[in-house]
Amino acid sequence: MGPVTRGFFTLLLSLCWAQKSDLGDERPSCDGCDLQMSCNCAHGGFTRVPVVTGLAMTLDLSFNNISEVTEDDLKGHKHLRALNLHGNRIAMIHPSAFDPLWSLENLDLSNNQLDALNDKWFRKLKALERLNLLNNPYRCLGSPLFQNLVRLRGLQFGGPALEELKRADMSGVTELEELKLSANNMKRYESGALADIWPLGRVTLSLHGPSLTDSALAAAVLADVSYPETPLVLEDLQITDKESLQPLKEAAKRRIRRFTFRNVTTSDEAITNFLMIMDGVPLTSLSVEDSTLVGVGRWEQARKTDHRAVDEFFLRNMKVLNVYQFVAFLQLLFLLQYPRKVSVINAQVFVTPCITSHLLKNLQYFDLSDNLLTDLTLRESLCQGDGTLKHLRVLNVSGNALKSLSTVSHLVEKLSKLTHLDISRNAYSSMPQHCSWPHTLRYLNISGAKLSTVTQCLPKTLEVLDLSNNNLKSFLLFLPALRELYLSGNRFLRLPPGWLFPNLQTLTLQSNTLKRFNHSDLQSYERLQSLQAGQNKFDCSCDFVNFLQSVFEGDGDVQLTDREDSYVCDSPLYLQGEVVSQVSLSLYECHRVLCVSVICGVVLCVSTLVCVLLWRLHAIWYLKMTWAWLKAKRISRKRQKRDREGTEALLSYDAFVSYSESDACWVENLLVPELERTRESSEDSMNAVSPRPLTLCLHKRDFLPGHWIMDNIMSAIESSRRTIFILSKNFVQSDWCRYELDFSHFWLFDGNAGGEAAILILLEPLPKDNIPKRFYKLHKLMSSTTYLEWPQEEEKYGEFWESLHKALRIEEDD
Ligand SMILES: *[C@@H]1O[C@H](CO)[C@@H](O)[C@H](O)[C@H]1NC(C)=O
Ligand SMILES: *[C@@H]1O[C@H](CO)[C@@H](O)[C@H](O)[C@H]1NC(C)=O
Ligand SMILES: *[C@@H]1O[C@H](CO)[C@@H](O)[C@H](O)[C@H]1NC(C)=O
Ligand SMILES: *[C@@H]1O[C@H](CO)[C@@H](O)[C@H](O)[C@H]1NC(C)=O
Ligand SMILES: *[C@@H]1O[C@H](CO)[C@@H](O)[C@H](O)[C@H]1NC(C)=O
Repeated sequence: MGPVTRGFFTLLLSLCWAQKSDLGDERPSCDGCDLQMSCNCAHGGFTRVPVVTGLAMTLDLSFNNISEVTEDDLKGHKHLRALNLHGNRIAMIHPSAFDPLWSLENLDLSNNQLDALNDKWFRKLKALERLNLLNNPYRCLGSPLFQNLVRLRGLQFGGPALEELKRADMSGVTELEELKLSANNMKRYESGALADIWPLGRVTLSLHGPSLTDSALAAAVLADVSYPETPLVLEDLQITDKESLQPLKEAAKRRIRRFTFRNVTTSDEAITNFLMIMDGVPLTSLSVEDSTLVGVGRWEQARKTDHRAVDEFFLRNMKVLNVYQFVAFLQLLFLLQYPRKVSVINAQVFVTPCITSHLLKNLQYFDLSDNLLTDLTLRESLCQGDGTLKHLRVLNVSGNALKSLSTVSHLVEKLSKLTHLDISRNAYSSMPQHCSWPHTLRYLNISGAKLSTVTQCLPKTLEVLDLSNNNLKSFLLFLPALRELYLSGNRFLRLPPGWLFPNLQTLTLQSNTLKRFNHSDLQSYERLQSLQAGQNKFDCSCDFVNFLQSVFEGDGDVQLTDREDSYVCDSPLYLQGEVVSQVSLSLYECHRVLCVSVICGVVLCVSTLVCVLLWRLHAIWYLKMTWAWLKAKRISRKRQKRDREGTEALLSYDAFVSYSESDACWVENLLVPELERTRESSEDSMNAVSPRPLTLCLHKRDFLPGHWIMDNIMSAIESSRRTIFILSKNFVQSDWCRYELDFSHFWLFDGNAGGEAAILILLEPLPKDNIPKRFYKLHKLMSSTTYLEWPQEEEKYGEFWESLHKALRIEEDD
C-alpha cells in the first residue's frame, strides 16, 4: 500500500469515525406528551434516554432498551414528578444523574441490570415518596441508600439475587405506607433490620426459599413487620406441610388482623394447619389470590378453632384442581357463620349449594363474579328465591352465564335488604316488560350484556344504573330517583331527554354515536353536574365547537369530567381527527349564510350602481353604436372590394330619407311628392333632357317588415346613393335617426362614397347648443357639409327644391 493510498484510507476512516461519533452524540427525542404533560415513551425502542420537553410532569420510559443513564440525560427536568424506567437494561447510572430532579416523587428502576446500588443517586431527591428497586441483580443494598429520602413512604426492593439484608441498610427509613421485599433467595437476615419502621402500612413479602429451607430466617423477617394494623401479604409460597407454616406463628403471636396469600400452592392439610395456628387470633380479613388448592375442602379437623373475628373472605383467581369433588363446606359452620363479606371471584364456582348458603348467616356482601353460574345454578345458590341470605345487601354475580332477567329479579325479590345488584357481563339479551325487585334496590349494573331496549322492568327506586356496553339506541323511562346513569358503549345518537331524570347528577355517554349536543340538551337536566361524552362521532359545526369550548372553559353547571382530548371531530372531513377544544373555525365558516347574503347584497348593489351609471352615461347606446359601426365597417369593406372588382353596386334607390316621426308630415306631403314626381317645369328649363323621377327609400314604406330595424337601416343606406337627413329638434331626440346619421357619417368618412353621400336638411333653425354633446358627429357634419335650410317664406320654396335636386343629381351628371 503506497503512502498516498494509506493517507486516503486514514482520511476515510477518520471521516467515518467523525460521522459515527456525531450520530452517537445525537439523542433521540420523544414527543408522546399529552395536555397534562404526561409523557408516554414506553415501548419506544430507545437505547438512550430520549430528549423530552423540560415541562414534562411524568415520564414513562418503561420497556425500552436503555442501558445507561448519563449525567446530562435528565438535565432541565426540574418539574418531573414521576420517572418510570422499568424493564430496560440499565446497568450504569451516573452518580449525579438524578440530581436535577428536585420534584421527583416517584422513581421506578425495577427490572433492570443494576448489580450495585449507589447512595449518591438519591442524595438530592428530597421529594421522593416512592422508590422501586425490584428485580435487579444486586446481592445486597450496600451503603445506607435511603438516608436522605426524608419523605419516602413507599419502598420496594429485592429480587432473585438478593442474599443479605443488614440493619444498617435500612437506616433512615422510619415510616412507610408500603413495603415490598422480594427475598425468595435470601440467605442472611440481620434480625431487627425491618423492625424500626413504624408506622408501617401494607407489607408484601416474597419468601419462597426461606420458607422452605430456613424457617428461622422467614420467622425473623415476619416478626419484624407484623403489627395488628399492618396488612400482610405473603407471596410465592408452597405450603403443603406443617413446617412451612411455622413462621406464621410469629405473625399470629403479634395478633395480625389482615392476611393475604398470593401465588401460593396449598393443600387441605396446610389449610387446616393454618386455621389451627390462627385459632383465637383476631384475624378479620383473609385473602387468597392467584393460588392453587390441591384439595377438596375437607377442613373439618379445625372445627374446634375460634374464628369469630373473621369478617371477610376474599378469594380471587383460584385454581381448584379437583373442582368437581369439592365438598359443600357442610362442616364449616365454625368458619362460615361469621363473615359479612365473602368474595369468590374467578374460581370456577358453578354452584353454591343452598345448604351452604344457609350457613352464611351473617352474609351482607356476596361476590361470585367471573364464575360459571347459570340461571339454574343461581336458583340453587339462592334457594329458589326464598329469602335465605336475608341480610344480603350486595350481590355480585357479574361475569357469569346468566340469561334471564326475570329469573334473577324473582330470585332476589325477597332479599329485603338488597341495595346493590351487579349482574353485568352476563348474557341478557332482552328485558321483560315487568320485573319484581326488592324495594330497597338502589344500584343495578347490567352493563356488558346485549340489551337493545329498556322497559318498565327497571325499578323506579334506582339511584345508580349502569347499562354501558349494550346495544341501546334510546332511553325513554322515567326514573325519578336516579343519580348516576352509565350509557357508554351503546348506540345513542343524542342525549336522552333530561326531564326523565330530575335527580340525575352523573351521566356517561362515551363511545356512542353522538353527533352533537347543545346547551338546551344540558339544560333539560335539572341537577346534572358531570358528563362524560368523549369518543363519539362529533360533527364539528360552529355551534357545537363554540358550545363545547365554552363548556370546557367552565361555563354552565355541567362539567365534562373525561379527558379533553377524547372529544374529537369526526366530520366535516377536513376536521376529522382534530381535538374539538383545539379547533378554531373562521368567521366565514361560522356564518356562511350571513356571509353569502352579505356578498350577494353587495354584488347586487354594485351591479345596480353600475347599471345606473351606464344608463346615465348612455353606455348602451355607445355599445350599440360600436356594434353597428363594426358592421358598417365590414359592409363598407365588402363594398370597396366589389368596387375594385369593377362590379357596379346594386343601387336601388337614389336616396334614403332619414327623418323623425314628427316630421313625417313634411316628408310625406312635401318632400316625397316633389322628388318622385316627373317635373313638368323641366320642359320650360334650358335643360333638354328631362330628369327622371327620383326613387326614395322611406322607412315607413320600403322597410321589410319583420327585420331588425338596424339591419333595415343599413341595407337602406347601402342600397341608396345618398342619404337625406331631415334635421329638426325632434330628429335629435329620436334614436334611430341618430344611427342613420352616424352610419351615413361613417360612410362619409370611411367609405368611398365621396364627400356628398349625406345631405342635411334643416327643417327649423337648430342652434348647435341644442344638440346634445354626444352627437359630436352631427356637429362635425354640420360644420363640414353644407346643409340646406327649409325656408320660412313660401316664395323661397322653389329655390330650395332646386338646390336639393341639384345636390341629388351631382353624381348622375358626372
Ligand atoms: C433491545 O435490544 C435487543 C438486542 O440488543 C433486541 O433483541 C430487542 O428486541 C430490543 N428490544 C426492544 C424493545 O427494542
Ligand atoms: C409464583 O411462585 C413460584 C414459586 O412458588 C415462582 O416460581 C413463580 O415465579 C411465582 N409466580 C409469579 C407470577 O410471581
Ligand atoms: C362486581 O364485580 C366486578 C368484577 O369483579 C367489579 O368490577 C364490580 O365493581 C363489582 N360490583 C360491586 C357492586 O361490587
Ligand atoms: C358495572 O360493571 C362493570 C363490569 O363488571 C364495571 O366495570 C363497572 O364499574 C360497574 N359499574 C359501576 C357503576 O360500578
Ligand atoms: C339542541 O339539539 C336538539 C337535538 O339534539 C335540537 O332538537 C334542538 O333544536 C337544539 N337546540 C338548539 C338551541 O340548537
